Amino acid sequence: MCEITSEEGMYKDVNNQNVVPYGPNRKGWQEQIPTLAKKGDKYFVSPPQADPNDIYGGLKVELLDSTDLQLLPRALTEAERKRALLRVETHEELYAETYLGQQNQSVFLDVDFQTHLSRYMNTLLNNIGDPFISGSLGKNTKFAECAVLDYYASLWNARWPSDPKDPDSHWGYVLSMGSTEGNLYSLLQGRDYLKGRPLHEGGQKVPDRELGGETAGADHTIDNPNAFRPIAFFSEDRHYSILKALRAMEIPAYGDVGAAEYPGQCPITEDGHWPLNVPSLGPDGAHPVGCGVVDIDKLETLVEFFAARGHPILLVLTVGTTFKGAHDPVDDIGKRLMPIFRRHGLAQRRVWADPAHPAHWDWRTGFWIHVDGALGAAYLPFLEMAYHAGETAQRGPVFDFRLPYIHSLVMSGHKWPGTPWPTGIYMTKRKYLIKPPEDPDYIGAPDTTFAGSRNGLSPLLLWWYAAVMSYDAQVERILHCQRIAEYAERRLRELSDVLQFDLWVQRSPLSLSILFRKPNDAITSTYSLSTQYVPSPDRRGEWRNYAHIYCMGSVDEQLIDRFVEELSEPEAFPEMAAEEMELKHTPGSERSRHGNDRCGRTEDSVCARQRGGDKAVNNLL
Ligand SMILES: Cc1ncc(COP(=O)(O)O)c(C=O)c1O
Repeated sequence: MCEITSEEGMYKDVNNQNVVPYGPNRKGWQEQIPTLAKKGDKYFVSPPQADPNDIYGGLKVELLDSTDLQLLPRALTEAERKRALLRVETHEELYAETYLGQQNQSVFLDVDFQTHLSRYMNTLLNNIGDPFISGSLGKNTKFAECAVLDYYASLWNARWPSDPKDPDSHWGYVLSMGSTEGNLYSLLQGRDYLKGRPLHEGGQKVPDRELGGETAGADHTIDNPNAFRPIAFFSEDRHYSILKALRAMEIPAYGDVGAAEYPGQCPITEDGHWPLNVPSLGPDGAHPVGCGVVDIDKLETLVEFFAARGHPILLVLTVGTTFKGAHDPVDDIGKRLMPIFRRHGLAQRRVWADPAHPAHWDWRTGFWIHVDGALGAAYLPFLEMAYHAGETAQRGPVFDFRLPYIHSLVMSGHKWPGTPWPTGIYMTKRKYLIKPPEDPDYIGAPDTTFAGSRNGLSPLLLWWYAAVMSYDAQVERILHCQRIAEYAERRLRELSDVLQFDLWVQRSPLSLSILFRKPNDAITSTYSLSTQYVPSPDRRGEWRNYAHIYCMGSVDEQLIDRFVEELSEPEAFPEMAAEEMELKHTPGSERSRHGNDRCGRTEDSVCARQRGGDKAVNNLL
């Protein structure tokens, strides 16, 4: 083992035992350290304590010898690099073929990012700072970013172009992360807006008529101990990034405040305990574990409780929930909550944001509604067009800036439309933008975004996609996905009937996700299925382990057929196999006469696939 010598801060192999084989040629790590990184028997760099290949079991590289990718102090040879890249390609292609996960794969040949944009891989593109001001770093793509933002502003019915003279016009930026970044930023902005922090472009001098004009809320913030203590509400089906954002921003959830300040008084539970999430609708005939939409009655009751006690309300709604693909009825929720806000002075209230100027105030809402549209915000507008054109019988809820009570919106570009890496859009209105904590001259543009340096290639991807894909083409795409989702749901239900085994299949209205009982681990891994424990329908403490598939743009009937075929293998559902064994040994049972194979198949397809994969790697190399 190596130990660090205290006097020089260098590593020494005291027993000369550090012979961990490392890198494509599997030589001992220490042998490969060049003289400039060592002095005698001591190293300037830390050695491995074990072969990482033996440790990193969770990397899903069963067909990939990752020693080929281990990096050495020297450059890899051309042959080693080639071999390593073949490994990468094999791995990525293997999972691409059978991908049924939530993100879109960039396999749209008509878009072809690679041909048109790969030249930008060898240059810096950094959109640091506010997207509407170029700033000191000329090598940016903010001109494309603005075009993308206007495009989505129009789809989301915001006022555009973004104009500092028009406080109701949109303001937004292209995210370097995905919607997690957008959720973090919206909750930070919402928190500070409700806390009464100064606004970036000055506040509204007259109350907003659409939200109720001048109301009893004029003096809501005077002598109200809770006036600047926002409380967050979010549903049981929200994404996990919401809790992370709340923690990062130290925003209390309603349940935290309830438990601390109003113990035993929760108006929606029998015993008065405070749940963390606002419950979603319970099970119904078509959705054994609930369709994933927030329970509006309960939300309304909770909001009333806290609004009556003077708290500003920070609400997160979701269009396209992560697991069930459900769309919260944002429009109906707004209609139900606005009267509460008006009644308690939260529709419009005066805020004195700058203690240095006590005579100045601005009018603000005492609530902030954020729509997490990571998945749904980019396709629902096209579904709505299809609906108006008579091409589909259903549309999703109105969720965008047509609703005067919406403050912010996010979507993930890698989910929909489907970029090759994570990105997204955060959008709000200029009048809601919070003044950044400082104004760094250094970047030459206001620091109005969450990230500092921002990836400038993502705006180009989103721009290119919209430049190639007409509205017609995008309507066609979402209709295709809906058709495939219907097909997949039907096939899974049929399979459940054939197997005489309840696969718990369910699909929420217009969802691209279909839920069903989690299959064995090999199938789960092969098809990149996400899984989740969900309380069982009777909610008596039992949980069901579900998986889902997402019918994104790259999924077609053939892939669904192949998937369903694998699911019909005898070992696909371990619980069924166990039940099968039990029945088989029950004398006289119906199934004992059928034998073990209800589908007439014997081969373990997963192993077969594994063997096929091994062959593919060997052929490649
Ligand atoms: C509803 C919802 N919100 C937020 C996110 C986070 O998005 P990202 O992974 O792009 O950061 C997801 C991702 O699955 C999501 O489904």
